[in-house]
Amino acid sequence: MIKKAILPVAGLGTRFLPASKSIPKEMVTVVDRPAIEYVVKEAVAAGIEQIILVTHSSKASIENYFDRSFELETTLEQKKKFDLLKEITEILPPHVSVISVRQPQPLGLGHAVLCAKNVVGNEDFAVLLPDVLVKDSDTTNDLSLMIQRFNESQASQIMVEAVPDHLVDQYGIVDVATTPDEGQSTVMQGIVEKPAVGTAPSNLSVVGRYILPAKIMQLLEQTPRGAGNEIQLTDAIAMLQQTDTVEAYRMKGQTFDCGSKLGYLKAVLHYGIDHPKLGESFKALIQELKL
Ligand code: G1P
Repeated sequence: MIKKAILPVAGLGTRFLPASKSIPKEMVTVVDRPAIEYVVKEAVAAGIEQIILVTHSSKASIENYFDRSFELETTLEQKKKFDLLKEITEILPPHVSVISVRQPQPLGLGHAVLCAKNVVGNEDFAVLLPDVLVKDSDTTNDLSLMIQRFNESQASQIMVEAVPDHLVDQYGIVDVATTPDEGQSTVMQGIVEKPAVGTAPSNLSVVGRYILPAKIMQLLEQTPRGAGNEIQLTDAIAMLQQTDTVEAYRMKGQTFDCGSKLGYLKAVLHYGIDHPKLGESFKALIQELKL
């Protein structure tokens, strides 16, 4: 059973400056809540019960957001603002806990995941990169389908989506014999971090959702620095794939890269028009723009 998820949040978010100068990029608001809440909710919807933040000293506001706020709760109660009180106390269901560990040095994504080794212990786990929001296509949550597939086959699952050929150098890219249908997995023959355009084994990019076995931690300990002189999760997965089956899961939903400014604006538009209370008025606002 996959019950733990690692969310690396220690990065300084240089792609999102100046906003990320004094607030964590994960706390930038998408409609009416911080981006990270969507990612945590995605994990919880897939059955995750423990969220492990791999964090940095400048990011305490993320931990505070998922903690209780006695002062705020008391004030809302006294003012009889019960709707708001409910909203802020029900961000997480009671069976879900959030804990954090520090990544003391920025040595890469692989290193960030390794920082959670002692918390994960001998359990298999999920990794969700919070820059990317994954919006369900229908009622199906892609992460739960990956977990289901992992439970059936014990094969690690790497979520992928097709990207234009000229963008392959921005992502991990997988090598597969045939491209799986959306919602399906296929055995992966290789994976490479940010290949130069024209050298990639496919156009299937790693989205930032992984289901991995506990033993990947030992592989991460042996992983030398790779692309960008960083310890890459992709390289440890390539090592794992030498001995174990690793599968690429092709997602059905849609991704929004909130680490980039345009991706963020796109997320605000999509989540805004789907918002249960604001959606209709927001659509009307967009129509008023008459672009
Ligand atoms: C990371 C991973 C990469 C993946 C990407 C998805 O890269 O290393 O394999 O495709 O996230 O967003 P980063 O964007 O942190 O450079």
